[in-house]
Amino acid sequence: MITSDHICVQPVHDDLLLQHDVSLRLVRFDLAHPMVGGNKWYKLQQNLMLAREQGATRLLSFGGAYSNHIYALAAAGAESGFDTCGVIRGELVTPLNATLAFARARGMQLIPVSRTDYRRRSDQDFVDELRQLYGPFYLIPEGGANEAGVRGCQAMATQLAARVPDLDNCEIALACGTGTTLAGLLSGLRLLRRSRLSSLPPSVLTPQTAVPRPFVRGIAVLKGADFLRADINSWLARLDSSTTDQDWCLETAYHGGGYARAGQDLLDFVANFQRMHDIPLEPVYTGKLLQALYKRIAAGLYAPGSRLLALHTGGLRPAADAVW
Ligand SMILES: Cc1ncc(COP(=O)(O)O)c(C=O)c1O
Repeated sequence: MITSDHICVQPVHDDLLLQHDVSLRLVRFDLAHPMVGGNKWYKLQQNLMLAREQGATRLLSFGGAYSNHIYALAAAGAESGFDTCGVIRGELVTPLNATLAFARARGMQLIPVSRTDYRRRSDQDFVDELRQLYGPFYLIPEGGANEAGVRGCQAMATQLAARVPDLDNCEIALACGTGTTLAGLLSGLRLLRRSRLSSLPPSVLTPQTAVPRPFVRGIAVLKGADFLRADINSWLARLDSSTTDQDWCLETAYHGGGYARAGQDLLDFVANFQRMHDIPLEPVYTGKLLQALYKRIAAGLYAPGSRLLALHTGGLRPAADAVW
């Protein structure tokens, strides 16, 4: 079902990059699937597998009225033969926006709850109430942020390794909301590295032969996201990946005012980038990520010769839902 053949690596050329001698390539994970593109498919893949193994026929998850996750879950659920329920924060405004109309058209049962109830989405008693009301379901947390989601994102590392011959010498940059994708990608990269090292004869395993590895830089899209470092470390610890390695960082200064906040500078950046490079962007995740990278390049934070790989993690919602 995953159409990873469509993922491609697109070089970006412009004056700023030339001036600073920095190369930038965009990895088009958004093309992985027409409706579940980007990181969403990776977050959902193992969840769907587990749901099937557990004999579930219905998936339930949470999201706001413009949630990429709800959109993707409705599409993936319908394609994989599951019923889906979306617990939506706040009232359903009619006519439904394009995200929710799409979800309903894919058969998702939309369950609006008050903002107060929505805050209880991780409480067991609230989940029990939902089970009593709507019957049994396989639960996927908001944003697909669970261990199966992290494990699913490990496959993004394999996709990168298959497409980027100089991966070990690159910096990989990606937008972070919950940090699930970053944790999965990083542990996937570490697994790949470990399997590569274990295939070498022990006699050559000296520090000199150690394989270089990509550095991963997360750009937090929400304000006050320092707490995410602990979340990411806790996923890494659960996946038996070292939490002390200095092979990643999280930047928390590029939120631009907060989640889904888009100032005119960001909107202009996204519009210019799309026009110049003919690559569709949205300002909540990948647009914010690229703006952060361009700010860092302009500030001289990358040495000449640096190679950046920016992950396009999707989120290109129907035009009618472009609330920015
Ligand atoms: C398009 C897009 N990119 C990036 C992210 C960030 O992913 P994560 O929450 O795993 O950090 C999200 C949220 O899931 C998203 O919808």
